[in-house]
Amino acid sequence: MNTAFIIFGASGDLTARKLIPAMYNNYRKKRLPETVQIIGFSRSPYTDDSFREKMKEAVAAFIPEQFDIKIWDEFARHVHYQVGDIDNINDYRSLVHRMSLLEDHPSNMLFYLATAPGLYSKVIGRLHEASMTVESDQSGFRRIVVEKPFGNDLASAIAINNELHGVLDERQIYRIDHYLGKETVQNVLVLRFGNAIFEPLWNRNYIDHIQITVAESVGVEHRAGYFDQTGTLRDMFQNHLLQLLMLVAKEPPVAFEADALHNEKVKVLRAIREIPAEYSSRYSVRGQYDGYCSAEGVRQNSATETYAAIQVYIDNWRWQGVPFYLRSGKNLKEKSSEITIQFRRPPTQIFDVASGKTELFTNRLSICIQPDEGIHLRFAAKVPDLGLQTRPVDMDFHYRDSFGSNLPEAYERLLLDALLGDKSLFARSDVIEHSWKIIDSIRSGWESEYAPPLFRYQPGSWGPEAANTLIGREGRWWIQDCRGEGQSDRS
Ligand code: BG6
Repeated sequence: MNTAFIIFGASGDLTARKLIPAMYNNYRKKRLPETVQIIGFSRSPYTDDSFREKMKEAVAAFIPEQFDIKIWDEFARHVHYQVGDIDNINDYRSLVHRMSLLEDHPSNMLFYLATAPGLYSKVIGRLHEASMTVESDQSGFRRIVVEKPFGNDLASAIAINNELHGVLDERQIYRIDHYLGKETVQNVLVLRFGNAIFEPLWNRNYIDHIQITVAESVGVEHRAGYFDQTGTLRDMFQNHLLQLLMLVAKEPPVAFEADALHNEKVKVLRAIREIPAEYSSRYSVRGQYDGYCSAEGVRQNSATETYAAIQVYIDNWRWQGVPFYLRSGKNLKEKSSEITIQFRRPPTQIFDVASGKTELFTNRLSICIQPDEGIHLRFAAKVPDLGLQTRPVDMDFHYRDSFGSNLPEAYERLLLDALLGDKSLFARSDVIEHSWKIIDSIRSGWESEYAPPLFRYQPGSWGPEAANTLIGREGRWWIQDCRGEGQSDRS
C-alpha cells in the first residue's frame, strides 16, 4: 500500500530544518518506498512548486554535503503542499481529496504534528471528524507523530494523552524524543546488553555514581517565546535527560521490542526517590545566565532557569545508594553531552600511594553522546621504565575512526521507524506521565518556601558554582572526559 507522510505546520522551522532533510536523506539512501508522498499542510500560501523550492534551499543549507541536485529533483516529485487551516474541517476534506488525486494515491497515512503544541488538540479533533483516524485492512494504517513538548506538567500531559486515546489506539501514537534517535544513545543498550563484560559490574557493588551532562553552548536564540514559559527542567530533563537515565539504569528487557523496552523504563522512573520540598535546595540547583532577561522575547525579570542540576537516587536492588547527578544548561562553555559511569576504588591499594608514585584513581567509562561521539574507558597503567609508578590512561573508541564521519541525524531513523511501525524509540504514555510526575515534584519544591535560589552564571562558563557544591559535598566532581582535554583529570 502507498503511504502519505502528512506534516501539519509544514511552513515552520522544524519541517525545513529537520523533517524534509531527514526524508530526503532516507530517500537518497533508498530507504523510502518509491511511492511515498510527502504532503505539507499549513496556512501559508505556498504552491507545490514554491514549497519545493523553499525545501530545496533548506536541504542545501542544512545538509550541504549530502545535497545532490539530481537526487533532489527526483525526491521533490514526492513532495506536495496543501494550503489549509488547522481548525477548518473542510480543509481536511480537501486534503483527503487531494491525496486521492495523486498518482500512487496513498492509503496509509502518517500524520506529523509539527504545529505549536496549543494546536494539537484541534488537529486531533479534526482528523477524527474527517474520519481520517480510522484504520482497516482496506484503508491502511493511521499513525500520528507528536512532537515535544508533550504537555508542560503531568495534568496537561494526561489531557493530551486522553485526547489522543479518545480517537487513536496507543499503538498508533508516536511521541518523539529526538535524543532516542541519536546513534550514541541507541548504542547505550548495545554497550550494556551486547557485551558480556559490563553488565556484571553495572550495579551498586562496583559503581560509585553516575553523571549525565547535556551542555549547550547556544543560548535561547529565536525560541525565547517558548523557552521562557518552559525552562530547562521541563525542556531538557523531562524528556532527554530522563531518557538517558532510563537507558543507563534499566534492567535488561526480555527482547528488543517496544513494549519490553518501555516496561523496563517505567520501572526505573517508579523507583526514583522523590525529593521532598524541604530538601529541594540540597538536591537541586537552578541557574540563569547573565543577560538572559535582555534577550528578545524573554519577560523582564524572568525567573526561568536556563540551567539545572539534580541529584537523584533509584530505590531498587541494583542502584540503592548510588547517586545519579544530572545537569543541563544553555550558554555554557561548550556543547557536550556525556554519561559517566564512575566505578569504585580498588578495595585496597598495594601500590605506593603515599610517595605520590601511584595516583589514587578509579576506573570510569564515559559515553560521549555528542559532539565527539564515542566511548572512553579509563584504567591504570604502569609508567614504563620508572620503577613502579602508575598513571591513569584512556582507551578510546570514536565513531568517526571506526565507522567514518557522517552519523545520521536522529530524525532520519525516527521518521523511518514511524513509517515502518517500530515504536521502540518513541515514548509510551506511561513513561511520559511518570517523567512529568518527577519533574512536577522538583518544580513544586522550587515553588515552595524551601526553593533553591536562582543562581546567576556567566555565559560561556560551566554554570553556577552551586552545581559544583552539590556534587562536591560528597567528595565528587563533574567529569568531562569526552572533551578530549579532560577538564577534570582528578581521579
Ligand atoms: C530540544 C530542546 O528538545 O533539544 C532545545 O527544546 C535544545 O532547547 C535541543 O536546544 C538540544 O538538542 P541537541 O540535539 O542539539 O542536543
